[in-house]
Amino acid sequence: LTVIGCLALWGTKLWGGRFVGDTDPIMEKFNASITYDRRLWAADVRGSQAYAKALQTAGLVTGDEMKRLLGGLDTVYEEWSSGHFQIKAGDEDVHTANERRLKELIGEVAGKLHTGRSRNDQVVTDMRLWLRDAINTLKGNSLQLISTMVDRAAAEIDILFPGYTHMQRAQPIRWSHWILSHAVALRRDVEKLDETLRRVNVLPLGSGAIAGNPLAIDRELLRKELDFDTISINSMDATGQRDFVVEFLFWASMCLTHLSKMAEDLILYSTKEFSFIQLSDAYSTGSSLMPQKKNADSLELIRSKAGRVFGRCAGFLMILKGLPSTYNKDLQEDKEAMFDTYDTVDAVLQVATGVVSTLQVCTENMSLSLALSPISFIYVCQMPFREAHSCSGKVVFLAESKNIPLNQITLEHLQTVSPLFDADVSSVWDYGSSVEQYSAPGGTARSSINAQIENMRAWLKTHKQ
Ligand SMILES: *[C@@H]1O[C@H](CO)[C@@H](O)[C@H](O)[C@H]1NC(C)=O
Ligand SMILES: *[C@@H]1O[C@H](CO)[C@@H](O)[C@H](O)[C@H]1NC(C)=O
Repeated sequence: LTVIGCLALWGTKLWGGRFVGDTDPIMEKFNASITYDRRLWAADVRGSQAYAKALQTAGLVTGDEMKRLLGGLDTVYEEWSSGHFQIKAGDEDVHTANERRLKELIGEVAGKLHTGRSRNDQVVTDMRLWLRDAINTLKGNSLQLISTMVDRAAAEIDILFPGYTHMQRAQPIRWSHWILSHAVALRRDVEKLDETLRRVNVLPLGSGAIAGNPLAIDRELLRKELDFDTISINSMDATGQRDFVVEFLFWASMCLTHLSKMAEDLILYSTKEFSFIQLSDAYSTGSSLMPQKKNADSLELIRSKAGRVFGRCAGFLMILKGLPSTYNKDLQEDKEAMFDTYDTVDAVLQVATGVVSTLQVCTENMSLSLALSPISFIYVCQMPFREAHSCSGKVVFLAESKNIPLNQITLEHLQTVSPLFDADVSSVWDYGSSVEQYSAPGGTARSSINAQIENMRAWLKTHKQ
């Protein structure tokens, strides 16, 4: 009786609700991913064409059928790329849309394309194909930014300004040293991206839904067709894991951590209080109410996008945590996280390149600030470090009590602090010779900066795309 009762109610709602019948339009919309996964169209066509060839090799379609499949898929590709592809009601995702269109174009033979293939191995193949291209674009943008920074560091090697620790003036450094400090962080990001690409570039196709492919599909042929480095080792893992997406989201988080730090430095340097740099009008916004103000909107946005990307990374990890093995619909959330992160980083890298290549350095203000910085007497006065440290403290105190900049203190005054001061002391105020002391590799002396520039340029050359 229970069974009969169930059958009678099949297709209707048991306990009321707004919709009666087999489908709930809200659920359909909730379930559909076509609004964003349409971006996978090219990858999806490419994956299907490779699969059609593998089907033919395995004797599952004839040579003629394969040609019709490939030709039909070419048309689907053409329609997407010319903007003529029509998404219809019922196309819940890009794979369904492409399959539906293929059937319209070539008839029933289109149905053979799915032989032995599952949505589960198809979708993750598309994701990997798409991300591989996306990574190459981001790598190109990163290299562009790094090379802009290195060129700027080379051109402006003479400019000195105060380096800060704890947000307090610390030691005079070359402006180039600051630029390069951020460029080398981005270089690590590019290296990490290369590493990530290796793990993205693994073929999952031929894994089926969970158990693998029963039809002697040649996965090595698929790998070659789709230009993957290797094939996945285990079909359950291949269809159910999204480590490569997480890794990409983490990469983006790290990269934007670096860029938000650089943005924060530049925001400070652009304030009236620092007046070290001026952003070009293209990357800042004037205030209609307060004409003296110029807001560093571009940099503030770069800083904020870091938070957005961390959210994507943490959010997606949260989705993965505690999921059972293999494919679950939860994984559909991978796409918006991946696309949004890509779009964000892609824009950030290009805007950062624009900001860095157009900002103006206010050299005088930078050097004026140097005159107000306490610097060490160790080198000119041949004092042991501890003594020099206490000595410089006393000189700073002396200048403050007389309310004059350090470099205007007379030799007589200095000699009241230590008899070791002699006429040579004027070179303490020669910041050019001060920075030249830091000539060990990695330091701020001209020779060391030049070595860093050379090193970066050699590295850039090996990464030319
Ligand atoms: C949800 O979408 C999938 C394709 O992504 C489809 O196979 C399935 O039938 C849809 N389910 C519902 C309840 O609409
Ligand atoms: C130096 O700072 C002043 C005061 O903040 C600013 O008006 C001026 O434009 C800056 N100098 C240069 C060369 O930009």
